[in-house]
Amino acid sequence: MRRSLRVCILFNTLLLSSAASRVAAVKQHELLSDTLAFEDPRAFKVKSLGELLRALGVFRLCSFPVLVNNCGKLMSVARTLLGKRGFSLLLRPTVYAQFVAGENEAEISQSMQKMSLQGLRPMLAVPIEEDLGESTGEKRYDDNMDIMLECVRMSHSNAWSKDPMMQLKITALLSPELCVKLTNVIRQQPYDLNLLIRSMDGEPISFPGLDEKEAAHLRSGLLRLNKIAEASVNKVRVLVDAEYTYMNPALSLVTMAMMKKFNKDGTWIWNTYQCYLKDSRSLLLDVLSLSKNEGFCLGVKLVRGAYMDKERKLAMKEGHQDPIHQSWEDTNDSYNGCLDVMLDVISQEPERYRIIVATHNEESVRRAVKRMEELGIDRDGGSVCFGQLLGMCDHVSLTLAKEGYSVYKSVPYGSVDETLPYLVRRAQENRTVLQGIRKERDLLRKELNRRLRLSLRGGS
Ligand SMILES: Cc1cc2nc3c(=O)[nH]c(=O)nc-3n(C[C@H](O)[C@H](O)[C@H](O)COP(=O)(O)OP(=O)(O)OC[C@H]3O[C@@H](n4cnc5c(N)ncnc54)[C@H](O)[C@@H]3O)c2cc1C
Ligand SMILES: *[C@@H]1O[C@H](CO)[C@@H](O)[C@H](O)[C@H]1NC(C)=O
Ligand SMILES: *[C@@H]1O[C@H](CO)[C@@H](O)[C@H](O)[C@H]1NC(C)=O
Repeated sequence: MRRSLRVCILFNTLLLSSAASRVAAVKQHELLSDTLAFEDPRAFKVKSLGELLRALGVFRLCSFPVLVNNCGKLMSVARTLLGKRGFSLLLRPTVYAQFVAGENEAEISQSMQKMSLQGLRPMLAVPIEEDLGESTGEKRYDDNMDIMLECVRMSHSNAWSKDPMMQLKITALLSPELCVKLTNVIRQQPYDLNLLIRSMDGEPISFPGLDEKEAAHLRSGLLRLNKIAEASVNKVRVLVDAEYTYMNPALSLVTMAMMKKFNKDGTWIWNTYQCYLKDSRSLLLDVLSLSKNEGFCLGVKLVRGAYMDKERKLAMKEGHQDPIHQSWEDTNDSYNGCLDVMLDVISQEPERYRIIVATHNEESVRRAVKRMEELGIDRDGGSVCFGQLLGMCDHVSLTLAKEGYSVYKSVPYGSVDETLPYLVRRAQENRTVLQGIRKERDLLRKELNRRLRLSLRGGS
């Protein structure tokens, strides 16, 4: 209570003068900080009984470390034993239904409408992922572009939410090998953003440090990205994902070029900053000053980061310094620090800067909410919104939405096979899965009990 009191006092001295409104405000703030303890099972009121039971079942499975730690292996064994159809029959009503929206537009649409009714906004994400050695030629990338254009269309045309957003993985359109090469090239010899923009406009640029074949692939990739950006401007905000450190600088370069070209009067292209990186804060400060100097609006997706284990293994193998913060606590400090930086610039120029606080961490969410109040940033003004993954920490998302904040759920779609790597990665997200889910499970149980009691009482 002490902290909420402090917030109230600060808020009061800033905004209020009369005693009566002061009392009202204190009450309101105590209510808000109680709500944001995320301990009210009634957040799940909007869920059907089937959904409650499914979530309980899936989270129960996620609570066995043996299952979670070996889930990649287990899934591929199950797939071999059961065959493609049997495996799909097993996964579809359970894990898949919990974390994935569906396979075709009809299925996706149904999930999205349900989400809309719950006050949540969908953010479609095609889980196409490529790492080194998995790429398969220009045709594959053109096909992926068509899938992304389809994603733009679906996000925009279905009116599932106002202000639609979608996620984009650059390595679906530009080979990871080239992204690695480009990362190394620009370390020696930084490219001017205008070079990339001219290439997006179709000029036959020859890029220093790349051979003709690589340059040709980069040009095609930039054309693909340009096409997606053109299709989405003024319709759908495109949030570019951050991936591995050995290619992120190239991904950011390309994204910043898109920002410079398309974000003159609005935040249509966004970039992602992973706070588990030791240099996340300086990367964020760099792009803030770049956006000022180059005159583009900046959208930031702030995450902790999803590739920790692989990054660390690679650093160890290659004898590099570990790019990831030493401990979870350091990552936490970094996340909250970057959050403060963004909220400060947003309070000064809300039309130029935007952030999606993409986290399941309740403490970070509460900090963001508190800071927004202190700085007088609107709950639904558009410059700050929140993001969680579909099927994870609904107690956080639903509570925030109920309080009037904009909340997006990242919604992957595709067949069981296409979404499998995504599902495996979800299960392996350590803290979130094993701790956050424990709390969500307790709340789900409470809600189930509450309904049982209600129906017993109603029936007697
Ligand atoms: C809308 C949305 C979009 C996303 N987009 C991306 C993206 O583009 N790129 C991406 O990489 N991820 C992305 N993510 C995933 C995100 O990185 C993970 O969901 C997130 O890391 C889980 O952490 P959390 O903030 O929910 O909090 P917590 O559960 O509090 O923290 C867990 C995280 O802390 C970090 N961590 C854990 N242990 C340690 C340790 N020992 N040392 C240092 N750090 C540690 C890891 O990042 C871990 O994932 C996205 C998530 C959402 C919701
Ligand atoms: C997370 O970081 C914030 C800000 O640095 C800090 O105040 C808080 O105590 C940290 N939380 C935990 C659980 O360590
Ligand atoms: C969690 O972290 C530990 C130690 O870092 C690791 O061995 C394990 O595979 C991770 N995943 C889960 C789900 O426990």
